[in-house]
Amino acid sequence: MPPAISSASFFIGKGGGDLISFGSGQPDLPPPQQIFEAQRRFKTFRYGPVQGEEKLRAALAKEYPGARAEEFVVTNGASEALDLLLRAAATRSGKVLLPKPYYYSYPHNVRLAGMTPKYYRLRDGKIDFDEFEAQAKGCRVALINSPGNPTGSVQDIAVLKKIEAFARRTGTILISDEIYKDLIYERENYPMKGETVCTINSFSKTYAMCGLRVGYVHTKDKDLMAKMVEIKSHTSMNTNVLAQEMAYEALQTPKRHIAQQMKVWRSRRDYLYESMVGLGLDLWKPEGAFYVFPKFKDPTRAMHDLFYRYHMITYNGAWFGDPSRLRFSYALDLAKIAKGMERLEAFLNKEYRRYT
Ligand SMILES: Cc1ncc(COP(=O)(O)O)c(C=O)c1O
Repeated sequence: MPPAISSASFFIGKGGGDLISFGSGQPDLPPPQQIFEAQRRFKTFRYGPVQGEEKLRAALAKEYPGARAEEFVVTNGASEALDLLLRAAATRSGKVLLPKPYYYSYPHNVRLAGMTPKYYRLRDGKIDFDEFEAQAKGCRVALINSPGNPTGSVQDIAVLKKIEAFARRTGTILISDEIYKDLIYERENYPMKGETVCTINSFSKTYAMCGLRVGYVHTKDKDLMAKMVEIKSHTSMNTNVLAQEMAYEALQTPKRHIAQQMKVWRSRRDYLYESMVGLGLDLWKPEGAFYVFPKFKDPTRAMHDLFYRYHMITYNGAWFGDPSRLRFSYALDLAKIAKGMERLEAFLNKEYRRYT
């Protein structure tokens, strides 16, 4: 019996040969070339300010209307941003409202911060505001993620505005994970606004800089900011100074860099979605990010068979709180996507029908 695949970490480091990976959420497109200028001229590696380089925070503030540099803390990716923010917010709440399905770290981050996750169920990837409001009872912290991982869904602006009004009315700390904000196919991002909104973002997806680990939290809440900086000063301290300089350069690149990459993402999305519909799979068309989330009969077994017999990596929906689906990332080129779809077709025809 080959080893069971119990989490995404099973696939880390696997690749090469004829393996086709629809697993990783890591952009395969290049970062803006301008960032390498920073690498050449950067010579000092002293500790930097724990909150992040003033220059980078001032540049970030320009991206958010009405924002100020002191409202940002620069972190080791959105991952540290989430961790710091949840730990800082833990003095105000015992429960955190999360979407389901969710990005797989959310429940872990909430528990690590000493709180308990509570869930609002997405309907075909979309927020049902009544469900959100009903489940929010007893939670002083709530999280939304649009565009979403693993759903690829972009939430309707009308619903986002209702959530903003809800946060304002109830004083709920609203964490808005907007890491895919520049990867929307249908419209511009709607940045969440409000005194209690804490926006999380990073350079990992927009600028294909995952490994450099630069992200941030934007919040107007001075107490949360002070707590995050205090925790960070005893944990990771400053975020890598060279990486911050490279992130600064990324912000200086013309926005057309992002627009050009969107054409690539869109053509992959269309190809993969249409292929899956052609194969008779049940899925919605993603409006953002780079994931599709089709239904499968026995997804755990399908993921296992696809890996061991068809050399394809897919992620089990159960890891994201939906045990009826598999997640396919399309951070790989069209030729590989096409080959993967041939294998998927063979799997569906030869094995899948025999599943009970
Ligand atoms: C929704 C979401 N939030 C946060 C992260 C963490 O990103 P990073 O730490 O690379 O910035 C990811 C990574 O895939 C994600 O999909």
